[in-house]
Amino acid sequence: MQHKGIIIYYSYGGNTKQIANMIKEQTNFELLELTPKVPYTTNYQQLVDDEEEKMNTKEIIEINDIDIEFNDYDKIIIGTPVWWYSMSPVIRSFLEKKNLPNKKVDIFITNGGWLGHTVEDFEEYLPINSYIDIKFNGNDLETPKEEIKNWIYKLQ
Ligand SMILES: Cc1cc2nc3c(=O)[nH]c(=O)nc-3n(C[C@H](O)[C@H](O)[C@H](O)COP(=O)(O)O)c2cc1C
Repeated sequence: MQHKGIIIYYSYGGNTKQIANMIKEQTNFELLELTPKVPYTTNYQQLVDDEEEKMNTKEIIEINDIDIEFNDYDKIIIGTPVWWYSMSPVIRSFLEKKNLPNKKVDIFITNGGWLGHTVEDFEEYLPINSYIDIKFNGNDLETPKEEIKNWIYKLQ
């Protein structure tokens, strides 16, 4: 049976968005991009420094409203970049709202090589079906595309 799926993601610099688009192309699942109410600075180094100060605080922020009935989907995929060894605050804030049905999700995590405790932090909110750790060097994808395609294939 073909799943009805939704890909929910946050992307600051475009890497996670690139993977979300790959998943959409291969599956035809819907895309839902989450955004913070107050945009982050466009200065990358400033962002890295600001967020370092808030590391381990499990910060919750305001995110823009979304109008989705999650029960309409039987496959939920969530994508986040790693920010200081955890999920990005946009994704944490979304999960904190707990408006997701308590069904297993699949997650993709883009990062520069240090996943830290991102997966464990997700598990505090939701049961996980599968996850993939996708490495970028800056904006260059380092994880082989084949590996990502194989993971996407199993979602269908
Ligand atoms: C604030 C901040 C903190 C980051 N912390 C980590 C980290 O702890 N480990 C890591 O591997 N990469 C870290 N990165 C790199 C990003 O996870 C990586 O570049 C990711 O692919 C960016 O995704 P995006 O382009 O969708 O925003 C950090 C980036 C930012 C902006």
